[in-house]
Amino acid sequence: MCGIVGYTGTENPIPILIDGLKRLEYRGYDSAGLALMNKSGEIKVFKTKGKVADLEKLIENKEWDAVAGIAHTRWATHGAPNTINAHPHVSGSGDLVLVHNGIIENYSILKEALIQKGYHFKSETDTEVLVNFIEDVKKESGKNLFESVQLALKRVVGAYAIVVMDKNFPGQMVVARKGSPLVVGIGKDGDYIIASDAAPIVSHTKTVYYLDEDELALLEPGKEMMVKTLDNKLVTPSLTELDLTIEQLEKEGFEHFMLKEIYEQPRSVYDSMRGRINAEKKQIKLGGIESYENHILESDRIIMVGCGTSWHAGLVGEYLFEELARIPVETEYGSEFRYRNPIIKPRDVVIGISQSGETADTLAALRLAKEKGALLLGICNVVGSSIARETHAGVYTHAGPEIGVASTKAFTAQVTVLTLMALRLGYLKGTIPQERYENLLQELENVPDKIEQVLQKDLIIQQVAREYKNAKNFLYLGRGINFPVALEGALKLKEISYIHAEGYPAAEMKHGPIALIDENMPVVVIATKKGNYDKIVSNIMEIKARDGKIIAIVTEGDQQVAGLADHVIEIPESDEMLTPLLATIPLQLLAYHIAVMLGRDVDKPRNLAKSVTVE
Ligand code: F6R
Repeated sequence: MCGIVGYTGTENPIPILIDGLKRLEYRGYDSAGLALMNKSGEIKVFKTKGKVADLEKLIENKEWDAVAGIAHTRWATHGAPNTINAHPHVSGSGDLVLVHNGIIENYSILKEALIQKGYHFKSETDTEVLVNFIEDVKKESGKNLFESVQLALKRVVGAYAIVVMDKNFPGQMVVARKGSPLVVGIGKDGDYIIASDAAPIVSHTKTVYYLDEDELALLEPGKEMMVKTLDNKLVTPSLTELDLTIEQLEKEGFEHFMLKEIYEQPRSVYDSMRGRINAEKKQIKLGGIESYENHILESDRIIMVGCGTSWHAGLVGEYLFEELARIPVETEYGSEFRYRNPIIKPRDVVIGISQSGETADTLAALRLAKEKGALLLGICNVVGSSIARETHAGVYTHAGPEIGVASTKAFTAQVTVLTLMALRLGYLKGTIPQERYENLLQELENVPDKIEQVLQKDLIIQQVAREYKNAKNFLYLGRGINFPVALEGALKLKEISYIHAEGYPAAEMKHGPIALIDENMPVVVIATKKGNYDKIVSNIMEIKARDGKIIAIVTEGDQQVAGLADHVIEIPESDEMLTPLLATIPLQLLAYHIAVMLGRDVDKPRNLAKSVTVE
């Protein structure tokens, strides 16, 4: 949700900033802009509505001897996505320039006070208020930039990651964060590159510092970084070496990141199990939560918290934990949980599920649960992210960077980790018969190969996509553990193709949605062999009797559903508890191909951003 980049050092900032913005564009693409400063402190700002490619055109051939620069790609919150509202924003005097990711909640009060003092505003943004507020504090207090930012932020309510430059100190940058992520890359030549995540940094340096909540840093080329808290405590930054390669951030021959990430799933599911499962020794080891296992086993219930696709993974987790470990589970949307005064007891365990580890509602829900004394566990993909750091313990998903806005490999990695956790707890609790436990371990190890087999069905899925790409609505049905898979399939389709789609438990169809079924309604049904198979066959009959078009995900060799459905997509046989890992793949591919055939911008669907750091 908005991406920011900054560079100060001896290199030309322009290509660094543009390349950085391209890598962060998944965070928002309503407008893009950059500000450059030369060694005399002159500032030039370029900004435009639209994508980074539009900004790139705007600055074509604009050579300048800049020593520092900041840049931004925006997902609009305050104010329309136009050029005026685009970042960077310059203060009234022209001295300060700033980029911001987040929301300043008390901006209207600050703005009013500034207007009273004679400040004028060009844009509708909270960010223009912030840069002027810092300027005002600086003028009134007579402090330097760092101290003024520190003072100003103490009076700001909201979330921010900011980078500020002052024309009176060319090359110097002040960065700060609260609620939105910010990473400082420390170059070998004493230069600094700052960004919302590590992707723009990795080609320059692997040594980074993840700024913590309420911290600010002063960056000056050739000088050691100074980090302080808002309360002015000096921090000794603990540096991290990035475990990320440039290849992981490239499309590597695929047309879109989403397709690459779908195809990466045999690997990402494998990586999420690697070193954690040993079918031969019949063991699962989850180092991150090992010391909390007894606490979890003694808990009264588990609450899964997430948003969007991660919430769907939580729902799959609910079936897994209840079936295998016999622990009561509730799955909650972060946004609902945080605002309804939930009953949380110290014997509750709350599991926050998040690819980015930065989703504002999930994070806030976890903080609330922490206040009430619950044990917090995290299932995150981004190492060092806020949720990973604020939970007591957790298990990383190891899916690798997910860049396509629609989540694919992160979902299957989350489900893999949840399966491992449920199996481990069930084993310790003795709630899974030994033979089933061993079979499940074996089966889980086979999942990456089976995903590979599902990917080979791509041509069949493309044919189905061609036939139904012009449908106005889709229904997705599943039962039991595949009900959340139906929800996920529908979400994938709607978010990237803009076709309306809904997921339902198959038996719920009779309670309303059946009224929608006619010859124009494609219905995707997950009808694998073991999951209430007879019941789902009856549901399929009901759809057929009303001329609905049936696209069925079936177990290899299925004859009965194949005889009823208009199209079947086979997936290899597996234990029912593991079918979500296989049944999800054709649904991702179906959504992808329909969206491509409709000419949609698959990796950057309209109005969306990957990392939702505002509520
Ligand atoms: C859908 C999608 C979103 C995210 C949601 C949570 O494809 O990507 O629904 O799943 O915004 O994001 P994370 O997992 O980063 O918390």
